[in-house]
Amino acid sequence: MLTAITRAVSPAIVNCELSFISRQPIELQIAREQHHCYEQLLEKLGARVVSLASQPDLPDSMFVEDPAIVLDELAVIFPLGTESRRLEAASLAEAISKFRTLAYVTLPGHLEGGDILRIGRKLFVGVTKRSNAEGLRQLAAILAPHHYQVIPVAVTGCLHLKSAVTCLGRQTLLANRTWFDPAPFSGYDWIDVDPREPHAANALALGNTIIFPASFPRTRARVEAQGFDVTALDISELQKAESGLTCSSLIFEA
Ligand code: GLY
Repeated sequence: MLTAITRAVSPAIVNCELSFISRQPIELQIAREQHHCYEQLLEKLGARVVSLASQPDLPDSMFVEDPAIVLDELAVIFPLGTESRRLEAASLAEAISKFRTLAYVTLPGHLEGGDILRIGRKLFVGVTKRSNAEGLRQLAAILAPHHYQVIPVAVTGCLHLKSAVTCLGRQTLLANRTWFDPAPFSGYDWIDVDPREPHAANALALGNTIIFPASFPRTRARVEAQGFDVTALDISELQKAESGLTCSSLIFEA
């Protein structure tokens, strides 16, 4: 069944890492409520949610997408690109090990799942401050026997590749193409974010539903105009932690 691993918001989220946005005060209670609504929506859309306990000393630990990728055949655990986040991986790996065999990328390679856009057996991987060439090399070597292709993508304008591009299904990408090199994605159809909403490219496609941040109505209209079924979710408090929608869960069949 469709399974989503999530982790409760850390009380330390106010001290989260920030790379491309400025720090604003974060209301912990609102962040928790928004995260709870996210989990409820995943459940409503058919996922079994495995909600892990919060990690009080790890501000960004709710972003469970970053320390791992879960594929049908195995899961791969990463050293995160941010040293302050590296301790997040251990307890997440323990949770994932109930569902998959684990493989590991090791230092000096580092990767973050926010940089990995998987479309079928292609893994487009952003080369960013968080994910380096050695990390990509190790990931490609681990996945080659399982016939996955690892394709590097240069990212310049944002935290992760998936801050700039996500797949809505039907071979369609939602993107801010000014933030990365779109050349590796030839053959896909594009929906560009509204220029007034540069952060609007991170959508979460689940079944036939596109979960989309409520704060980007202009881009939402563009997505709906192409016939996608969109459900808006308020993640405004979490966006202050440089959050999108994909980063708060690891979704897989189990
Ligand atoms: N606050 C999310 C990150 O920088 O990793």
